[in-house]
Amino acid sequence: MATSGCMQFGLRRFIQQNSLCSLRKQIRCVTGQAARKHYGVDEPEGPVMKTALPGPKSKELLRELDNIQHCSSVQFFVDYSKCLGNYIVDMDGNTILDLFTQISSIPLGYNHPSMIKAMQDPANVYDLVNRPALQVFPPGNWPARMENSLLEIAPPGLNHVHTLMCGACSNEHGFKAVFMRHMRKLRGGAPPTKEDLETCLLNLPPGCPPLTIMGFKNAFHGRTMGAMNASHLPNKPETKLFFPATDWPMGPFPQVRYPYDKYAAENAEEEKRCLHEIRALVEEYNGRGTPCVGIITEPIQAEGGDNYASPDFFQKLQKICKEFDIAFIVDEVQTGLGATGKMWAHEHWDLPEPPDIVSFSKKAITGGFFFKEEYKATDGHRIFNTWMGDPHKIILLEAVVKEIKSENLLAQVNETGNFLLAGLKKLQDTYPDRLANARGLGTFCSIDTHDAQMRDKMIHSLKQRGINIGGCGVSSLRLRPSLTAQPHHCEIFLDALNEIMKEL
Ligand SMILES: Cc1ncc(COP(=O)(O)O)c(C=O)c1O
Repeated sequence: MATSGCMQFGLRRFIQQNSLCSLRKQIRCVTGQAARKHYGVDEPEGPVMKTALPGPKSKELLRELDNIQHCSSVQFFVDYSKCLGNYIVDMDGNTILDLFTQISSIPLGYNHPSMIKAMQDPANVYDLVNRPALQVFPPGNWPARMENSLLEIAPPGLNHVHTLMCGACSNEHGFKAVFMRHMRKLRGGAPPTKEDLETCLLNLPPGCPPLTIMGFKNAFHGRTMGAMNASHLPNKPETKLFFPATDWPMGPFPQVRYPYDKYAAENAEEEKRCLHEIRALVEEYNGRGTPCVGIITEPIQAEGGDNYASPDFFQKLQKICKEFDIAFIVDEVQTGLGATGKMWAHEHWDLPEPPDIVSFSKKAITGGFFFKEEYKATDGHRIFNTWMGDPHKIILLEAVVKEIKSENLLAQVNETGNFLLAGLKKLQDTYPDRLANARGLGTFCSIDTHDAQMRDKMIHSLKQRGINIGGCGVSSLRLRPSLTAQPHHCEIFLDALNEIMKEL
């Protein structure tokens, strides 16, 4: 395992360099346990609970925040100065193993020394203090920063990228790139007419053409207007309720049986059926004057229940896109940056050519999207907002990318993922009436429970034992550990779940 090489990045040097108080002491003080060296930080041996969750301090803060904003989604308040590695520490001093990582968003665990060092580096101060409008006054080091971060990990064949703020707005701007490329091609590059310029201000064609993007049933792409239009989560209607929407096609995503290979023939039939319907939907929308110019898919439908389809399905989906000259957009907001054991989940598909657009956020720290040259805007202020991301996020990403490479974290993800999935399968065999369909790629793992009520009870019980995981779909448990999670972290979770299953 890659831990020994990390010792040099360890606590002592971290403290010396950053003159922070002793984190080791902090761990002992918070948990009463000895620290365990782990990818450059000293982690506790396991969770330590001092109160029920949420504890009294969290409850008090919740009352305070509730006076300011609606906050029923808040679970507990965190003391981020005390979090370390795979452990999150709340305001009541509870040390919780975090296998959900801020909705799948913490790449190296909490307070990783290399990220703290990057933030404390005096050379970075001016980029942190003076937040630039990146498409107008970028700092001189911006091209180099992009080279050292996003382009260093760009999906093979995609060497253009925009940075943005979040997952939803990355998809949103990706859609705009798709619409612009379509209209440019349709018009043979002709400049807009007077009518185009006038009608666009009235939200009318031809200035605002009735183009559409196909999203899938059970897909989630974010909560801005376009991203929401392409999202269809039956278990979360509140993501769309009472917000205006336009009529975009909703394609069927295969509903396969697991393990995939055991039901290979049946699953292939289901995928064939979906591909047939997808093609028919494209034809239908094209025929009614609302052309489908893009298809957006997650590699694994995450919020929708960790739903998988085969590489063959995605290869054929790309083929349909090619046939109709529409953009193949892959939303890697949740799957990207190593969680599935490859940098990008679509690399598992062995596509004959790259997707047209690949969006990212979460573990990538910055939002944004990669794109092919033909999707590059030809005018300024088209893919644009004030900040267009933030150098601060790219400075952090640079540190993360270096760490992923130097510590070979993708190998760690695969090793940990294999352990986790084997453990889930064992539990499923032990409790076949309540657990089913253990599945995963890398550490991107999940398992179905009997129903939503049971699932929520399990998540609650795990939390009270100091283990944080998530849910997705109708009744699935969702694991989204950091890239530095190891089998021993998963063992703590699997043992606790086993205990809970006995009690249920
Ligand atoms: C696949 C996918 N796309 C887009 C989003 C939206 O990202 P954000 O919440 O950063 O806007 C999410 C969020 O969960 C997601 O899972």
